[in-house]
Amino acid sequence: MKITVNTLQQMAAQGDKISMLTCYDASFAALLDEAGVDVLLVGDSLGMVIQGQDSTLPVSEEDMLYHVRCVARGAKRALVLGDMTFGAYQQSPQQAFSHAARLMQAGAHMVKLEGGAYMADTVQFLAERGIPVCAHIGLTPQYVNHFGGYRVQGKSEVDAVRILADAKVLAAAGASLVLMECVPAVLASDITQAIAVPTIGIGAGVEVSGQVLVLHDMLGVYPGKKARFVKNFMQGSHSIQQAVQAYVAAVKAKTFPAAEHTF
Ligand code: KIV
Repeated sequence: MKITVNTLQQMAAQGDKISMLTCYDASFAALLDEAGVDVLLVGDSLGMVIQGQDSTLPVSEEDMLYHVRCVARGAKRALVLGDMTFGAYQQSPQQAFSHAARLMQAGAHMVKLEGGAYMADTVQFLAERGIPVCAHIGLTPQYVNHFGGYRVQGKSEVDAVRILADAKVLAAAGASLVLMECVPAVLASDITQAIAVPTIGIGAGVEVSGQVLVLHDMLGVYPGKKARFVKNFMQGSHSIQQAVQAYVAAVKAKTFPAAEHTF
């Protein structure tokens, strides 16, 4: 059965963990789909892992549309989530709508944008016009120059309160998912308790509705720096299919992430 926004909501309500991986092409989309991954994120991490850039900022709208089309052709069961690219949605809800509509026409079932409460108007604008939105908070990689690097967010009391408030406002505005990157596990757990929307974590501990990793990180093929929250699932697996199945099983069983992957 195809995964929809309703499926994700039901899974979260039943405590059935949601598995998400990034995906950039049709062959991997078919493999991940077959292995039981619930959501395929066509992430702008493609800038780093596919294009060899040093951040996600150079990824263009055309790049993203190309990869969303590829993934959509390979996916049968999984929900396809398309990232909105830097500079293509921050100006106004109207600008965001035209970018998001093109992603949906390319085959995405939901779009992801980065930012806090100030993106609530955009989330509402898209949701009211039929475009489900995943709100990405915490460490938002498109803000790398603002943050001065890729750092854990929400460690101070003030920042934790602000990120919790962001999550509540974005959920109230109509976000269908809230994705939290590199935040303390206790904060991610508080947010998951506080909102009625499924939460996805990456470096956010185990007390969330589901997990995501970058495919090239969990297969151990990305040559760049390995973040604390990454686990290489190829270790102990005989094939990519087996590694992806091991990831899905670990997410469902709550054995990933372990304490060593958590802040
Ligand atoms: O682009 C991406 O891969 C992402 C994940 C890190 C969540 O946004």
